[in-house]
Formats: sequence, structure tokens, C-alpha cells
Amino acid sequence: MSDHFSSRLAGLRVVICAGSGGVGKTTVAATIALGLAARGQKVAVVTIDPARRLAEALGLAELGNRPQQVAPERFAETGLSLEGELWAMMLDVKRTFDELVELLAPDASTAGQLLGNRVYRQLSSAVAGSQEYTAMAKLFELDHEASYDVIVLDTPPSRSAVDFLTAPQRLDAFLGGRALRLFLRPSGAVFRMAGLVLGALKRIIGARMLDDLTSFFTLLSGLLDGLRERAGDVHGLLRRPTTGFVVVTSPSELPIEEAAYLSAQLDQMGLHRRALVVNRIHPVDPAGLDAGAVAERLEPALGATLARRVARGHAALQVLASREANAVGRLMASIPDAKPVLLLDRSADVHDLTALAALYSELFG
Ligand SMILES: Nc1ncnc2c1ncn2[C@@H]1O[C@H](COP(=O)(O)OP(=O)(O)OP(=O)(O)O)[C@@H](O)[C@H]1O
Ligand SMILES: [Mg+2]
Repeated sequence: MSDHFSSRLAGLRVVICAGSGGVGKTTVAATIALGLAARGQKVAVVTIDPARRLAEALGLAELGNRPQQVAPERFAETGLSLEGELWAMMLDVKRTFDELVELLAPDASTAGQLLGNRVYRQLSSAVAGSQEYTAMAKLFELDHEASYDVIVLDTPPSRSAVDFLTAPQRLDAFLGGRALRLFLRPSGAVFRMAGLVLGALKRIIGARMLDDLTSFFTLLSGLLDGLRERAGDVHGLLRRPTTGFVVVTSPSELPIEEAAYLSAQLDQMGLHRRALVVNRIHPVDPAGLDAGAVAERLEPALGATLARRVARGHAALQVLASREANAVGRLMASIPDAKPVLLLDRSADVHDLTALAALYSELFG
């Protein structure tokens, strides 16, 4: 099923794994990175909030905000030898934002004031979209450095997978938007209005907070052009033919709908959809036996009671498996060229290198 998976990724310099929350984006991103490294490339994977045990398995115990090489000897027990190199990092939103401010500020004192500003400190980590934006900024930085053959980017656990794609435009719209411009350059009637509004705000949120807010916007104005240019560059990077998207979904109803929507959205935005992974499927039993027949077969080995219990479990799994198969069928009908790659649900979470290596064999064949 999967010998074409590596050919789908051929020639890519950036691989972005996107999909709804909890479907396995981080796991698939790590598996793809491992697979490409096993096949000889120097790969950096940028993970976002990986499960603690997966982070440990990748040697990401400390937050460095830079890729670190996963020591080749760690793979010894997996039976896998890497021809290339695997580098991995966990995205640190706050640090990535701070680094961006340092890079784009006109001078060190502006950077220092902004980094110390209370509004900035809240915004840089708490605002919706900051994970998306910093993931893009990190991708841009690593791509620009050109130290890796391939960068694999995990995406944040957003409610809607499409949020991720529109983050740069939303930032751009915000930075270029009327509201911000009025705030930064109030004039005439607007200025008088702004005065009234500011007076009211002062009473509501307090003078100190308002001062912080005003100086935040003033300081930010020095970075606006740089930030907007960056957002534009990121957009260009996403559109390159060597940047490919892997849409990840589970076989359940809602994520499948979301995957179909995301795929259509990628096409519409002129972005390159390279593969579709349906993760955690339960296989349909090809024998198609009913519970009675299963119990009958198992009875000599297990005894009547246990055989019936196992048969009931088997039947329930078959109901689930056929529901999943129908959902995948609908997905294929709505995106005819999708040719999804299916990954089985494993009995345990994918939290160590051995499990990742097994998933790699399944995905890459
Ligand atoms: N094929 C699989 N079999 C068994 N467990 C899996 C499989 N794929 C992923 N998992 C487990 O499912 C959980 C969710 O996976 P993962 O963290 O990769 O999802 P995610 O899409 O990145 O989630 P989020 O949207 O929260 O970032 C993890 O505990 C992971 O180990
Ligand atoms: Mg994740």
C-alpha cells in the first residue's frame, strides 16, 4: 500500500503535516522525518507540544529552540540504521517570538523595551495563532539557513486545520489593518475620538495597563514592515513546489470531513498536497465471520465462555472497522486523487523510537 509514499515526498525540501486535533500529526511528522533520515537525508523535524515520552525518546528533554541531532546510537535497539541524520526540536513559542523581535527591531533598545513590555509578554505566548505564526517563523529561519536537506514541520493542535494556513494572512491583515493604523497614527477627528476612547479605556483597564498598551503599539510600529515582509516571505515559502503538505486524519467522521475540507482548501490556495495519511485504522477481517462462527472456531482453544467473549470483542471491532472503511471510502470519493495511505492503530501509543521505527516500516513500506 505504501511503496508510493516515499515517491510522493520525492524532491521536497519542506514537508508540512496538517490535520485536525489529536489525529497523529506529531507522530506522523516524526515518522516521516525518521524515514527520510533512514533513507540518507539530513532531516530536521520541528515538533509542537509532543507528548513528553516522545520528546524524551527524541532526546528533547530540554527546550533548546534549535534542532539537536538525535544520537545515532539511540537507534541501535530499533534495528534501524540511519544513512542520514535526524535532528529534532520542540517549538518554543515565546523564544521564537523574542528572537524575531531581536532580529526585526531597528535597534537593541527598542527590542529590549518591547521584550520587557507587559502587553508583549502576554501577547507573545497567549494569543491564539501565536503557535501557528512562530512555527512558520521557525520554518522560515531553518529554510533560510539551508543546513538541512529536508525540514519536516508538525502543526499546532488547532481546532481547525485551516487556521494554520491562514495565520500569515491574518497577521498581515492585522498589521495592515485599519484598527492598528488608527491606533498608531491617530489624526484629526479620529484623534479626538481616540482621546475619548482612551479616556474610557483608562478607567476600565487602568492607567498603567493603558500605558503598556500604548507603548506596545508604538514599539511594534517599528517592526511592522519587517513583520509584514516576513509574513509575505513565509507565504512564498509555503507555495514553492518543493514545499509539500501531508494531510493527516483519523478514520472518524469529523476529522475525515475536516481532512476533505483542508485538502480542498490547499488546492484552492495553490499549495501542494502531496499525501493523505489515514492514521489509526482498524482492519476489516477479510474472512468476514460473524460472532457465532468466530466463537465456534475459538472454542477448542479457549473454552466456551472466553471464546464467546473474544468473539463479541471481535464483532464490535468489525463494526468499527467497517464504519471506518465507509468513511475512508467517502473521503476517496470526495478527493479522487487522494490515494490515502492507511496506518494501523497500534495497541500502544507511539512514544519510543522502536514504535516510530515500526510505524516508519508501515508508512514507507
Ligand atoms: N498509529 C497509531 N497507533 C497508536 N497510537 C497512535 C498512533 N498514532 C498516534 N498515536 C497516539 O495518539 C496520540 C495522539 O497523537 P499525536 O500527538 O501525534 O496527535 P496530534 O495530531 O499531533 O495531536 P495534537 O493535535 O494534540 O497536536 C499520541 O499518544 C500518539 O502516541
Ligand atoms: Mg501534535
